[in-house]
Amino acid sequence: MVKAKIAIVGAGLIGLSTAVCVSESISNCSVTVIADRFTPNTTSDVAAGMLIPHVYPDTPVHQQKQWFRETFDHLSVICNSSEAPEAGIHLVSGWQIFKMIPDEKIPFWSDVVLGFRSMTPEEMKKFPQHQFGQAFTTLKCDCPTYLLWLEKRLKEQGGQVQARKIENFWELHKDYDIVVNCSGIGSNKLVSDQGMYPIRGQVLKVHAPWISHFIRDGDGLTYIYPGIHNVTLGGTRQKDDWNLSPDPSDSKSIFERCCALEPSLQRAQDIKVRVGLRPFRSAMRLQKEIMARGSEKLLVVHNYGHGGGGFSVHQGTAKEATQMVQECITMLETTGYKAKL
Ligand SMILES: Cc1cc2nc3c(=O)[nH]c(=O)nc-3n(C[C@H](O)[C@H](O)[C@H](O)COP(=O)(O)OP(=O)(O)OC[C@H]3O[C@@H](n4cnc5c(N)ncnc54)[C@H](O)[C@@H]3O)c2cc1C
Ligand SMILES: *[C@@H]1O[C@H](CO)[C@@H](O)[C@H](O)[C@H]1NC(C)=O
Ligand SMILES: *[C@@H]1O[C@H](CO)[C@@H](O)[C@H](O)[C@H]1NC(C)=O
Ligand SMILES: *[C@@H]1O[C@H](CO)[C@@H](O)[C@H](O)[C@H]1NC(C)=O
Ligand SMILES: *[C@@H]1O[C@H](CO)[C@@H](O)[C@H](O)[C@H]1NC(C)=O
Ligand SMILES: *[C@@H]1O[C@H](CO)[C@@H](O)[C@H](O)[C@H]1NC(C)=O
Repeated sequence: MVKAKIAIVGAGLIGLSTAVCVSESISNCSVTVIADRFTPNTTSDVAAGMLIPHVYPDTPVHQQKQWFRETFDHLSVICNSSEAPEAGIHLVSGWQIFKMIPDEKIPFWSDVVLGFRSMTPEEMKKFPQHQFGQAFTTLKCDCPTYLLWLEKRLKEQGGQVQARKIENFWELHKDYDIVVNCSGIGSNKLVSDQGMYPIRGQVLKVHAPWISHFIRDGDGLTYIYPGIHNVTLGGTRQKDDWNLSPDPSDSKSIFERCCALEPSLQRAQDIKVRVGLRPFRSAMRLQKEIMARGSEKLLVVHNYGHGGGGFSVHQGTAKEATQMVQECITMLETTGYKAKL
C-alpha cells in the first residue's frame, strides 16, 4: 500500500488542528508538522482563544458561519467530556458592550453561541459610557494547553513533528507528496504574499481568579477574557506593525481601559505582557495549488490568513483543508504519483 507523505508547515493553531484532522480522517497517509516555532512561542499562544467570530470582508458570510458552527460544535463535544481540562476548553459567559448602538444588533453568529440576548437596563448600569450590550455564553480555548493537547493527539495518530525553518517550499519536494501551508504571518523570506500583513496585538496575562465573566467592548480594542489559569486583558490593533517587543505605553493604556470597565482589576497580580502578529488578509486563503518548476510539480494546500479570529473558525477550515488534501491524494493515485514528477 502506498502511503501519501504529507508535510504541514506551521505548528500554531491552524497547522496542528489541520494535522490532527488529516491524520484522523485520512487513513493511509503519514503526517509531519514542520515549524520553526512551537508552543508556547507561536502567535496562537498569545491569543485569548475566545470563540467570537471576527468578520472576513471578502469571504461569504454563510461560509464564515458554517466554519464557526463546525468549530463550536466540535469544541462543545470536547467541553462536555472528561478531556475538557486537559484540552483547555471551557464555557464562559459575559457581555459585549457598545458605546454606540451597532448597525447589526443581532450578529450572524447569534444562534450559534448559547443564550444570546440583549442586555437589560439593570445590567447596563455597570457601564454608564455604553448604550447597548449583548449577553451570551461561548467557548474559550486556553493556550498553550490546547496546542499541547492537539500535539499529543497528533502523536497518538503516528504524526511526527520537526523543528526546522523552511526557506523555500521546493525543499520539501523530494521527501513529501503534498505540502500544506499553515505558516500564519509566515516569514518575510518565504515566497511572499503581498496581500498578507500583520495586525499587531499586545495583551496582558494577569492573575485575577475572581474574574469569571468576560467583558468585550464592541470596538474590539478593549477586552477582559477569563481563562482557566489567567485573565487576558487587551488589547491593541496596530496594522503593518511587525514589532514583537512589548510597548510599555500600550500596557499602560490596556490596563487603564480594562480597569475602567472592571475596577477590581486594580488588584490583579503577576502581570505578564505578550505580543502577537495576527495574520491578516482580505480573504482567508483556503486553496489547492499545483506549483511548477520546469517539469517538476508540487501539490500545495494553503490554509492561512485567519487574522484576528483563528480560534473561532479553526475546525471548519481544518476540515476544508483536509478535503483538499484528500482530493490531492486522489489525483496522485490516478496519475500513479506521476503528478509529482
Ligand atoms: C493578541 C491576540 C489575541 C487574539 N485573540 C483571539 C481570540 O480571542 N479568538 C480568536 O479566534 N482569535 C484570536 N486571535 C487570532 C489568532 O491568534 C490567530 O488567528 C491564530 O493564532 C492564527 O494561527 P496560525 O496557526 O495561522 O498562526 P501561528 O500561530 O503564527 O503559527 C504559524 C506557524 O507557522 C510557522 N512558520 C511560519 N513560517 C515558517 C517557515 N518559514 N518555516 C517553518 N515554520 C514556519 C511558525 O513557526 C508557527 O509554528 C488573537 C490574536 C492575537 C495576536
Ligand atoms: C488507501 O487505501 C485504500 C483502501 O484501503 C486504497 O484503495 C488506496 O489505494 C490507498 N491509497 C494510497 C495512497 O495508498
Ligand atoms: C521558546 O522560546 C524560548 C526563548 O527563545 C526557548 O528557550 C524555548 O526553547 C522555546 N520553546 C520551544 C518549545 O521551542
Ligand atoms: C453531554 O454529555 C452527556 C453525557 O455524556 C450527554 O448525555 C449529552 O447529550 C451531552 N450534551 C451535549 C450538548 O453534547
Ligand atoms: C505560504 O503562506 C505564506 C503566508 O504565511 C505566504 O506568504 C506564502 O506565499 C505561502 N507559500 C507559498 C509557496 O505559496
Ligand atoms: C498563567 O497561569 C499559570 C498558572 O497559574 C502560570 O503558570 C502561568 O505562568 C501564567 N501565564 C502567564 C502568561 O502569565
